[in-house]
Amino acid sequence: MDDQLQKIVQPLLSWYDANARVLPWRDNPTPYRVWVSEIMLQQTRVEAVKPYFERFTSELPTVAALAAAPEEQLMKLWEGLGYYSRARNLQKAARAVVGRYGGVLPEQPEELLLLPGIGEYTAGAVASIAYGKPAPAVDGNVLRVLSRVTASREPVGDLSVKRGFAGRLREIYPAGRAGAFTQSLMELGAIVCVPNAAPKCGECPLSALCAAHAQGIEQELPVKAEKKKRTVEEKTVFLILCGEKAALRKRPEKGLLAGLWEFPNTPGRLSPQQAADWLKALGVSPVKIERLPASKHIFTHREWHMANYLVTAESAAPDGAAPDGGLVWADREELAQTYTLPTAFQSCLRQFLSRN
Ligand code: ADE
Ligand code: SF4
Repeated sequence: MDDQLQKIVQPLLSWYDANARVLPWRDNPTPYRVWVSEIMLQQTRVEAVKPYFERFTSELPTVAALAAAPEEQLMKLWEGLGYYSRARNLQKAARAVVGRYGGVLPEQPEELLLLPGIGEYTAGAVASIAYGKPAPAVDGNVLRVLSRVTASREPVGDLSVKRGFAGRLREIYPAGRAGAFTQSLMELGAIVCVPNAAPKCGECPLSALCAAHAQGIEQELPVKAEKKKRTVEEKTVFLILCGEKAALRKRPEKGLLAGLWEFPNTPGRLSPQQAADWLKALGVSPVKIERLPASKHIFTHREWHMANYLVTAESAAPDGAAPDGGLVWADREELAQTYTLPTAFQSCLRQFLSRN
């Protein structure tokens, strides 16, 4: 096939060889490390991922170690990264890899695709970067570069558009340099053909070939379909203190932030009187109820707008490792070591940590 895209391969590889950032997962790109890094990088920035990646791979250095990790350790290692189902799927997949493949990730994208949490992007990234297969990995960065180079106005959110570009890339993968080619496209999108700002066409190895640059329409591309609005949920969150300890509750095993810990909370914005009633129903006797600053957390498809209360409680009544729905009382040490609290509750958590 004689695709115009063929022309980008050599300039991109040369540019990548000279300009690739030094990143922890790049110096020893084993299938396991590539896989873990790509999952972390899916919804999190490179700079934020670095320390998580180092910690995760030193505590759980192999597929087998990940497969055997206790849930609380896994959640702790992921704490703050968000999108916790990524971590759970990672472990599910690790168990499958131990069971089906003796702990070694398969090489073929078609087999990788059968594992939990591995989609076309991750399958391509692992197969090309770790195994040198001509398997494209088309993420947002790559779509931006390709739609600009080809001056394509097709909406990049469409699966068919993504697959169209993947198909064209597959034909031009350079033998022996598959991993570098995959990463060169991502890298160009991350540091030269950047999102949310003017692309640095002056430093771009593709500027002479780039149709968008030639037409001066770089910033009109890529074309995205209109975003769906997020739903707003009002909540009231309680930091309930009893001595040195705060009350925590385990979230349900299904749904948003499944199985993580939270400060007790309820839908709606409660007045102090309603708050007192709600606390009593929970089995807590409040001595004092004070308002804390309101806070907000933004998820992919929803926003939480939270009223926060600081409650001083008389006694840590319904205690213990109470199962479903029950409260658990944790001091600051236990909160740091044992319980994983999603970032959505950071406002109350900071209040707690600043107090004792
Ligand atoms: N973003 C997604 N994958 C990446 C990688 N391997 N290197 C840098 N940024 C990335
Ligand atoms: Fe992106 Fe500009 Fe390079 Fe085209 S020339 S790929 S728009 S940075």
